[in-house]
Amino acid sequence: MATVASTTTAGTRHKVVFGNCRDMHELARESIDLVITSPPYYNAPFDYPGMYRDYDEYLGLLSRVADELYRVVRDGRIVCFVIDDMLVDGEKLPIVADATKIMRETGFRYRDRIMWVKPKGYSRISRRSGVVIQHPYPMYFYPDNIQESILIFQKGRFDYKKVRELDQTILDASRIDSHAINQNEWNLTVWQITNVLPTNNPLEKGIAAFPEELASRLVQLFSFYGETVLDPFLGSGTTSKVAAQLGRNSVGYELNFSLKERIFSKISSAGRLELKIERRLDSVAHAGESDDEVPPIQKRARQSLR
Ligand SMILES: C[S@@+](CC[C@H](N)C(=O)[O-])C[C@H]1O[C@@H](n2cnc3c(N)ncnc32)[C@H](O)[C@@H]1O
Repeated sequence: MATVASTTTAGTRHKVVFGNCRDMHELARESIDLVITSPPYYNAPFDYPGMYRDYDEYLGLLSRVADELYRVVRDGRIVCFVIDDMLVDGEKLPIVADATKIMRETGFRYRDRIMWVKPKGYSRISRRSGVVIQHPYPMYFYPDNIQESILIFQKGRFDYKKVRELDQTILDASRIDSHAINQNEWNLTVWQITNVLPTNNPLEKGIAAFPEELASRLVQLFSFYGETVLDPFLGSGTTSKVAAQLGRNSVGYELNFSLKERIFSKISSAGRLELKIERRLDSVAHAGESDDEVPPIQKRARQSLR
């Protein structure tokens, strides 16, 4: 068990592997205490159009990643997916139901579901509700989506005796501020958190980043100080940054090597810490390799994802 460093961030260790998270062989069995991640939303029109050949290929990836997560997560610990159903070509795909089924079939228990609700009018996706305003008649109703699901899975059951065996310094550093829980209603199944707006921060531009507040709640609720948090779909590096700020170590996998500088800046902004970056051959290289209209991340990912 880790000892408490003088400041929270100092002394935490972080590793980023550029490669496909369907294979996380760098991680030993039962080496991860918590997973927080937001898998790509199938062929999300803004972020990943045409990335997967079809929905089955996408579910195949989730299934492979679920197997890897089951291998690397310690007994009793938690995996959080920030995910939601996705509208593609006018059809809503039941990603939440399918991801839950896959995780349960892999062996995880379905522990909880929190609805993350964004402020009204902050939608990144098109305002579909305008249709019924233009045509105020039956059958023109399409609601704007201002929510995402935080699916919480657990590998077996947590042995609460372990908490009593922890060093008092670790317990003190892991203590959750009950004022924050009450004030911001963490105790409910609905969390009102402002989403990251596309224009807010260049480090998150073009990435469907989740807010630091969301990751922060999950890190505090499901990991102890000094433990290790994994994000297999690291994106801009939010999970690792927040883990560092809260005195946790992290590992992240990211397919897109062009995010290296942004991930580096984001994690480093947490303070003094140790950061290792590795690149595997199955990562997707990037700008400069494009020879047609298809962005390289999507074109190359098609091969890399299978
Ligand atoms: C929704 S974004 C994650 C955003 C992240 N939560 C943040 O706050 O920045 C999903 C990320 O997964 C990456 N990705 C997609 N498929 C992947 C794979 N098979 N292995 C690793 N990363 C992948 C994408 O390049 C993208 O950056």
